Amino acid sequence: MDSFEFNKVLGALLGTAFVAFSISIVSDSIFASPVPEKPGFAIEAAEEGGAGEGGGEAAPAETPIAQLLAAANAEAGAAVFKKCAACHTADNGGPNKVGPNLWNIVNRPIASHEGFAYSGPMKEFSQGGSVVWDFEHLSNFITSPKGLVKGTAMGFAGIKKPDERANLIAYLRTLSDSPAPLPEAGAAPAATPAAAPAEGAAPAAPAEGAAPAPAAK
Ligand code: HEC
Repeated sequence: MDSFEFNKVLGALLGTAFVAFSISIVSDSIFASPVPEKPGFAIEAAEEGGAGEGGGEAAPAETPIAQLLAAANAEAGAAVFKKCAACHTADNGGPNKVGPNLWNIVNRPIASHEGFAYSGPMKEFSQGGSVVWDFEHLSNFITSPKGLVKGTAMGFAGIKKPDERANLIAYLRTLSDSPAPLPEAGAAPAATPAAAPAEGAAPAAPAEGAAPAPAAK
């Protein structure tokens, strides 16, 4: 008798656990988790490019994408693309999945990929295909899909980190037989290292040479 009761309780517990587990599996597959399951190839290899190392340059979100792209690393971007691959293929002629194939996406007219049923807001945003996915639009869209195209069907939170996003866009640019030229990073004055004393540069210079001050008395 007792063990019968016990079995019922155990059964109920197992049942609950099973339901909870199933829900978590289903919701995981709906809301693709942004963390790549397996690290694939090492992301830390991404350094070489000499993308501005010095911890400083924390200009948040304001740095123009043209400037970020100048230091971006497409290989690192390929790793970032795993976040997109749940819904997008990247190869020439690849199928549409949840989202459209992204071959040749840079400068492609918005909402123009054959065979994909775009959302109303995305079609509207394309203004009949006259607006293209230039670097600027891509950057803004990837930062916050719903921020740029309110009501888009792309269920993705966005990539806020500027360098990660730039690497990704540098990778997207390679998805083409003739990659679009990088945007002019110029125009920005920030280039000359000699001219301006960067904010960080210690204003209190004299420390080093100044040592032998307290000579005798
Ligand atoms: C959860 C699925 C999903 C994920 C993850 C996802 N997308 Fe999308 N994406 C979509 C859908 C759906 C659309 C179509 C949106 C619409 O019609 O409103 C779309 C559209 C796009 C478009 C516009 C394509 C066109 O032909 O106009 C771009 C560009 C894009 N996604 C890039 C990305 C990038 C880059 C990532 C990774 C950072 C990503 N997406 C992650 C589902 C996804």
